[in-house]
Amino acid sequence: MLKFRKAKHKILVTSALPYANGPIHLGHLVEYIQTDIFVRFLRLIGEDVTYVCADDAHGAPIEIKATELGIKPEQLIAEVYNEHVQDFREFLISFDNYYTTNSPENKRYSDLFFERLSKKGFIYTKEIEVTYCEHDKRYLPDRYVKGKCPKCGAADQYGDVCENCNAAYKTVDLIEPYCIICKNKPVRKKSKHYFFRLSKFSKKLERWLAKNKNLQPEIKNFVFNWIKNGLEDWNISRDGPYFGFNIPGENDKYYYVWLDAPIGYIASTENYCRKHDLKTEDYWNNKNSRIHHFIGKDIIYFHFLFWPAMLLGAGFELPHDIVVHGFLTVNGEKMSKSRGTFFTAREFLQSHNPEYLRFYYASLLSKKMSDVDLSFDDFRKKINNELASNIGNFCYRVLNFLNRHFDGEIKETDKNNELKEVMQKRTKNIEENYYALNFNEAVKDILHISSLGNKYFQDNEPWKIVKENREKAHRVLGFCTNIVKDLCILLEPILPDFSSKLLQQLNLKSLKWEDLKFELKNHKIGKDAILIKKTDEKEATPEFPLNLRVARILQVKEHPNADKLYVLEIDIGTEKRQLVAGLREHYRIDELINKKIIVITNLKHAKLRGVESQGMLLAGDDGINVGVLTVEESVPGDRVYFEGFENSNKEIDYDGFSKLKMVVKNNKVYFEDKELRTDKEIVRVEKVKDNAKVR
Ligand code: MSP
Ligand code: ZN
Repeated sequence: MLKFRKAKHKILVTSALPYANGPIHLGHLVEYIQTDIFVRFLRLIGEDVTYVCADDAHGAPIEIKATELGIKPEQLIAEVYNEHVQDFREFLISFDNYYTTNSPENKRYSDLFFERLSKKGFIYTKEIEVTYCEHDKRYLPDRYVKGKCPKCGAADQYGDVCENCNAAYKTVDLIEPYCIICKNKPVRKKSKHYFFRLSKFSKKLERWLAKNKNLQPEIKNFVFNWIKNGLEDWNISRDGPYFGFNIPGENDKYYYVWLDAPIGYIASTENYCRKHDLKTEDYWNNKNSRIHHFIGKDIIYFHFLFWPAMLLGAGFELPHDIVVHGFLTVNGEKMSKSRGTFFTAREFLQSHNPEYLRFYYASLLSKKMSDVDLSFDDFRKKINNELASNIGNFCYRVLNFLNRHFDGEIKETDKNNELKEVMQKRTKNIEENYYALNFNEAVKDILHISSLGNKYFQDNEPWKIVKENREKAHRVLGFCTNIVKDLCILLEPILPDFSSKLLQQLNLKSLKWEDLKFELKNHKIGKDAILIKKTDEKEATPEFPLNLRVARILQVKEHPNADKLYVLEIDIGTEKRQLVAGLREHYRIDELINKKIIVITNLKHAKLRGVESQGMLLAGDDGINVGVLTVEESVPGDRVYFEGFENSNKEIDYDGFSKLKMVVKNNKVYFEDKELRTDKEIVRVEKVKDNAKVR
């Protein structure tokens, strides 16, 4: 039996609160899966742990989106809340409480912070210049105004930081600014704002950082540097229209979303405590309790400076640890809608088992801030070779053999003390690595134990000796069943569903970390079944270099500088795009509006006579006529493909595209004798003769 470092006090774990204006995607899931594995491990070793989170429901984008949709922000956030909760459930994220920041508890705590900080002189007001759009009648937050970078002159930069030269500045500093909602030039306006004296906390923050041994050293260094370079006071108010909490005594001013968002951690705790007859203070005002935050690297500033300063100023305990993870990349690059490498949680579920993603992420995650890369090749290999062939196969083989030859009953266990010891040592490592958040190492050791199990089974050849030495074979199976049971426990934090089904097959009630010993004997198991299937053999499917989707034409305008070109606005299901197309001699505008066409979404964006084209539509061309590819039943966003080929997620340039030979026959499109289609129908081509080229 192993020894545990059990804390005597309560542990509170949080993940960052996802914004309530969009779906959960695979990037978010890095964090929720990482946190959930940690929490499940703590529960398994018997800690008193509570995992809380919430939707981050406030801010300008939510208000703007709701206005666009013609609904109330409350309705928008309620809908998104339900989606988020369902997505998290599917991915087995085991929150003890999932709340929203737009709650009475959060309002109360936000006011409490504001009042305490004000009383202590940490908040003051100041008139500042801000950017205002007279057309939309609103102040424009950083992300809603673009212009030329005041440092390097790069065009189309957001109002806070330049993506070209990394300079940080204020929206009013932008050169030739324009409102991204209406494209008009905004004006400067004066407005009174509330500021938090972050600068007053420099010393205290430094001391906390220096003393705290859990924080990742690489991040501490960053933060020390920020402090050294001088902290600026922080604007914690926003003018209406805004979706947030009204600042007491103000008419149309609100707390900035980042003020009440982290307070949402406390509010969600409070909401949980009320339901379970517990006290919020036991978590947030108790020196012995431990708070673990999990966040991504983009929000370090908020969690290592603003948040602890607010806690210090308002008289709450500081976090015990803030774990920072890196970002998700797909095939080595930032997730991108245009390359087709942006996946929502739901999209992933359509073709994969959510536990496979948990396993895959676990195999890569450590307590380092490095990015996590999802390569679908690697994903398939890991699932098929490690999860299915090693672990899944071992468990099934053992239980199935036991059922077939021994009526599912084990008696005594083979005394292979040497192997037992090796496994116990690995188990100890696994415990330590779970605790230290080095899940990649834990996964390696779990796989090793499973391999040893497979080897032991193989070496002992129970299928042979069951005839000559039935008792020995029975003891071997006893030993193997104990390994299966251990794997069931060791894998629970990562694969809770697999583990609970395996537990049922083992005919055991709940398991704890303490049950990791080879003491199961005289026990009858239940029915066995294969639990892990290989993920579909996509390796055999060749890739087609294009990513094709159905799109609907929303708007058509004449190109300002080219007689033959139109500029189209299209809807591709997930987003709107602008395309330039040479159709002016072949279609009238009214013939195109609302037509459902086929577009390449992974084509390198290009400027055609000064107008950006974000992709390209497909049309047949027989030398005389040009006719677009079109569909009837399918809807924007639907996948378009040649049977037997998988669409590519890599960007392609025009040269690459022009080498492809797609031809028209009977008003259909062929590539290597396969028809172009969606799941619902065959794609049709208008106007052109057989053997027309598709371009
Ligand atoms: N609402 C804020 C957090 C407030 S916490 C008081 C926020 N929301 S978010 O939806 O943008 O992100 C939620 C978490 O997911 C953050 O920790 C963020 O770093 C993480 N991720 C979002 N996109 C990610 C990737 N592509 N990859 C990895 N993590 C990412 O920030
Ligand atoms: Zn505007």
